Amino acid sequence: MSRMKIEEVKSTTKKQRVAAHSHVKGLGLDERGAAKQVAAGLVGQELAREALGVVVDLVQSKKMAGRAVLLAGPPGTGKTALALAIAQELGPKVPFCPMVGSEVYSTEVKKTEVLMENFRRAIGLRIKETKEVYEGEVLEMTPNETENPMGGYGKTINHVVIGLKTSKGTKQLKLDPAIYESLQKEKVQVGDVIYIESTSGAVKRHGRSDTYATEFDLEAEEYVPLPKGDVHKKKEVIQDVTLHDLDVANARPQGGQDIMSMMGQLLKPKKTEITDKLRKEINKVVNRYIDQGVAELVPGVLFIDEVHMLDIECFTYLHRALESSLSPIVIFATNRGKCTVRGTEIKSPHGMPLDLLDRIMIIRTLPYSQEEIVQILKIRAVIEGIQVQDESFKVLGEIGTKTTLRYAVQLLTPASILARINGREVIAREDVEEINELFYDAKSSAKLLAEQEDKYMK
Ligand SMILES: Nc1ncnc2c1ncn2[C@@H]1O[C@H](COP(=O)(O)OP(=O)(O)OP(=O)(O)O)[C@@H](O)[C@H]1O
Ligand SMILES: [Mg+2]
Repeated sequence: MSRMKIEEVKSTTKKQRVAAHSHVKGLGLDERGAAKQVAAGLVGQELAREALGVVVDLVQSKKMAGRAVLLAGPPGTGKTALALAIAQELGPKVPFCPMVGSEVYSTEVKKTEVLMENFRRAIGLRIKETKEVYEGEVLEMTPNETENPMGGYGKTINHVVIGLKTSKGTKQLKLDPAIYESLQKEKVQVGDVIYIESTSGAVKRHGRSDTYATEFDLEAEEYVPLPKGDVHKKKEVIQDVTLHDLDVANARPQGGQDIMSMMGQLLKPKKTEITDKLRKEINKVVNRYIDQGVAELVPGVLFIDEVHMLDIECFTYLHRALESSLSPIVIFATNRGKCTVRGTEIKSPHGMPLDLLDRIMIIRTLPYSQEEIVQILKIRAVIEGIQVQDESFKVLGEIGTKTTLRYAVQLLTPASILARINGREVIAREDVEEINELFYDAKSSAKLLAEQEDKYMK
């Protein structure tokens, strides 16, 4: 493989479990790296936030690759929230790949394969290329339709006429229908600033031309100036991709074109097509690009939540993968104390083998005070659009200290529904108390189980 496919690479960002953490916007540190008590949606937990600030610095200065951090603390102390805060802090150009330990168990894909894929999602590559492009503000976009020559319904598009404008002049282009599809995919409209690569036909939308900046817009739009120079020109294009994106783009479907193999492709997840051989090839090309200065490595963060779910096979693999030259920084999180390492009989702190634990920096998260719990509840109430009386916040805070923060946060929505049933807009003390009687937190449920053990099936 002398040339890698990069034109058609679309970043495959994973969906994150953010709903419960949507108020978290960053680590909330000042210029000197000190944590403000309440900032960026985070409350308290100052030491952990400051430590993670150092981690972010190390990632950004690329001194951290191949190291690992463990966030350790009781349930509901903000480990997952802090990891997502790091992602925000790193910005969109540095890859951040979150996963949960139990994700590795699947009947179709090997455990180490899942880990490998996620490792490669967390390693970015910034590729600089000089490309021939057509760039400008879209003046017109007219698809030219004809009756479908095969008969049947609908029309086919045989070409699309597009007018592009720069500060220097305008140009009208007649383009292939395939490009019309990419224009639609990028949701290009008249008034947008775009470029079209002349070799691949790939379309990229920069944003809306700032001549339209006075337009009333509900969604936040990015306004960009009219491009300078000619419409047709050479342009340095920077593309941020991950190694996993390259794997996917270069994996070729196997088998012939007969129906059976098509079915096979539909049934089989696409990941099985990425082989070790392909990855080695890609690594080779990547390393050459880096040597030639065409590309730059951007090590990101792989976040493995609930790491105690991994077994010894995974840990062995991780240990080795961390030594590789193409490695991200790995952040683990767990709420377990001493427990057995899965797949062995060995008891170990956090359920991780000692030799791996030995090379990890551990950051502790501590339980919150009642006051901090109330502060977090207040932030969540705003986010969820729920009104709460001050007294009810206090009761929820007390419940939170007795149970966990998460339980208290989770009571907000049901309590607001109950308040409405009781004919109130604002959650009152009675609503909180009533809802707390309807549901059980883990601790009281466990207590009840112990008391009534003989009544349950075994
Ligand atoms: N310091 C904080 N500031 C603001 N919100 C927080 C903070 N810590 C936790 N939260 C919020 O409280 C809830 C519980 O926290 P989170 O899920 O991060 O806990 P955890 O430590 O990952 O727990 P577990 O061990 O059970 O996974 C989430 O909604 C989270 O966003
Ligand atoms: Mg968590």
